[in-house]
Amino acid sequence: MTNYQRDLILIVDDIPNNLKVLFDILNNSGFKVSIAKSGESALEKAQETLPNLILLDVMMPGIDGFETCHRLKKNQKTKDIPVIFMTALSETVEKVKGLHLGAVDYITKPIEHEEVLARINVHLELRRMQLKLVQEEKMSSLGQLVAGIAHEINNPVNFIYGNLIHTKKYIEDLLKLLKLYEVYTPVAHQEIQDFSELIELDFIKEDIPKILSSMMLGAERIQEIVRSLRIFSRLDEAEIKEVDLHVGIDSTLMILHHRLRATHERPAIEVVKEYGELVPIECYAGQLNQVFLNILSNAIDAIEEKINHPQILKLEKTEVDKLISLSSSYTKLSNPDSIFLKCKIYFTPQIKINTELTEDKKTILIQITDNGIGMSQKVQQRVFEQFFTTKDVGKGTGLGLAIAHQIIVEKHRGTLEVKSVPGHGSQFTIAIPIY
Ligand SMILES: Nc1ncnc2c1ncn2[C@@H]1O[C@H](COP(=O)(O)OP(=O)(O)OP(=O)(O)O)[C@@H](O)[C@H]1O
Ligand SMILES: [Mg+2]
Repeated sequence: MTNYQRDLILIVDDIPNNLKVLFDILNNSGFKVSIAKSGESALEKAQETLPNLILLDVMMPGIDGFETCHRLKKNQKTKDIPVIFMTALSETVEKVKGLHLGAVDYITKPIEHEEVLARINVHLELRRMQLKLVQEEKMSSLGQLVAGIAHEINNPVNFIYGNLIHTKKYIEDLLKLLKLYEVYTPVAHQEIQDFSELIELDFIKEDIPKILSSMMLGAERIQEIVRSLRIFSRLDEAEIKEVDLHVGIDSTLMILHHRLRATHERPAIEVVKEYGELVPIECYAGQLNQVFLNILSNAIDAIEEKINHPQILKLEKTEVDKLISLSSSYTKLSNPDSIFLKCKIYFTPQIKINTELTEDKKTILIQITDNGIGMSQKVQQRVFEQFFTTKDVGKGTGLGLAIAHQIIVEKHRGTLEVKSVPGHGSQFTIAIPIY
């Protein structure tokens, strides 16, 4: 889990004095604390702030702690937040009921300062470990899949390519032989003449070398793709290695090729590369590729989101208006819909990738900029949080950037920052120190 932020704990209790005691204990221990005085408000706060852990009182007016826990566990967004119940010392039945409802633990009142902190820390640590496993699983299953496919395709394609080289040579020889026949037997037997005409021999002689060349080109292309897939997955390279980052970025773009292409809804996404002179750096290459993949996929999502939100695209309308005033052919476009259509056309979806070595030669900077939907200040503050997503359930897990942040900050001691203007686009800057 990313440590760039302090853990947020939500305390739920209807008795102000209890809240105050807990608030002080947690606050003094360095946690961020938020409070709720009822089950209803706890549900709202939990959904909104996604705390790392919830301390939940059982006895409350309105919906009690059990019901609150039940509803938290039913909600896709809050179901994984660890809940610790607070009950009175004697209430064994309640403790068991709470655990059955999905709470991870309970603490007894009156609150013991040391005990609360110890239990909270245990559960935060457990949660971190769990998230790490989810992340590793996500990363390695994609890597394995890609590496597996690459491996499976590699053999047959080498087989085709290897044989094509021989085939080409044989056909050249056969064509030469045919020529010799034509020279030394100028008047062929009628049957040979008829058959040559039937099969359009002259055309075959001309066409067959072209066919072979394009087959070889195709096979070479597949070999290149397979090479990219292998570079991308780098399953064999879990260790630190010295690599050229551009090769990693390019292999990632290759993987995303199908998502960058034009669709019925939009033109192709233009990828502008402004690569500087980098030096090979020591890094976890496969993991950095995962970072590029996560950021680039988000950029594509953001562009598609913008195209799906006409009202945002209209922001670009000023540019269209300029064009309309410049070009007489557009002056007739009084229908707002058709202007809007032009809007769509004048928005060129674009992802820019800049790389550079800083002047002191101590850091590599990689900037990925999209002109997608952008994000509000509020979203920007939360993008690196685990499970934070604005995408529909099933579409986004909210892990992409949390993983990226962890890989850059913890594994490479670098930084990952975001800047964005809503409606206009976003920019992610990766800085990796060179050791
Ligand atoms: N380039 C971007 N433009 C606009 N919003 C972005 C961009 N990148 C990230 N976001 C916002 O940050 C959120 C978190 O991104 P993150 O990659 O962590 O999760 P996700 O894309 O929602 O899900 P997944 O786990 O599948 O990646 C997104 O839901 C989106 O709201
Ligand atoms: Mg994502």
